[in-house]
Amino acid sequence: MSYQEANQKAWDQLALANSQFAAVATDAECAQPLLTLDKRGWLPGSVKGLDVLCLAAGGGWQSILYAVAGARVTVVDLSEEMLNRDREQARLRNLDIRILQASMNDLSQLEAASFDIVHQPVSTCYVPKIREVYAQIARVLRQRGIYISQHKQPTSLQVVERDTRNRYVIGVPYYHGDPLPAVRDTAYREPGAVEYLHRWEELVGELCRAGFVIEDLVEPRRGDPKAKPGNFKHRGMFVAPYVRIKARRLNVREEETRSPIWVPE
Ligand SMILES: C[S@@+](CC[C@H](N)C(=O)[O-])C[C@H]1O[C@@H](n2cnc3c(N)ncnc32)[C@H](O)[C@@H]1O
Repeated sequence: MSYQEANQKAWDQLALANSQFAAVATDAECAQPLLTLDKRGWLPGSVKGLDVLCLAAGGGWQSILYAVAGARVTVVDLSEEMLNRDREQARLRNLDIRILQASMNDLSQLEAASFDIVHQPVSTCYVPKIREVYAQIARVLRQRGIYISQHKQPTSLQVVERDTRNRYVIGVPYYHGDPLPAVRDTAYREPGAVEYLHRWEELVGELCRAGFVIEDLVEPRRGDPKAKPGNFKHRGMFVAPYVRIKARRLNVREEETRSPIWVPE
């Protein structure tokens, strides 16, 4: 079975098992769609009439919120069951959403320069080469378009277990290129999914090399000092699980990015 087939199956099962990642947008969230999507003010004040791609974002959350906020929405995901949530919620809320089953590293079904915003929740860990994903996004985003993405941090993916003194053990090498091994501490891993570690030079460096400028970067907190060992919030106090990046598509020519800004006389 290829990594994509395995991930499609794993996410179909997670959707059918009502995973927290397949939770649909609630009425309360739909009453404040932009605030729900973006508490940091990274999005424009209004997305009305903008073309938004919710990438690897099946589950009936992001797509519904953007559509309620007046955007023209396309949602792409590998899992049919995750997309069924979007389909069902769009029908219930009478929203017009384009739904496409595809892999994030092949967006050839989408026209070049056809989106103002690409919003991608945690998902790049499911493909081996993040560069291919960034290249696809750079192609479909319009000039000055916004790319908001969240990723698993490499250190978090290196953790394999919690030892007897409740310390988190790094057991996977930083340069591990193959699918990640199954681990005992599954707090931030999905059962059955094939995942890959992307180093910082790939998460951030490849983004810059694909023609994006990073405008902000945060590490969403999942830790709680009161959490007991064994709870994901305990681990979250020691290892930051995620990074969230706001980037903008700018057509910076390659030679400009490589030449120094200031040349001494
Ligand atoms: C963490 S969920 C994100 C969705 C959810 N709405 C959220 O934010 O909570 C990750 C999604 O990535 C999708 N996925 C995994 N591999 C993919 C691929 N190669 N191409 C597109 N989507 C993929 C899964 O099917 C799943 O829906």
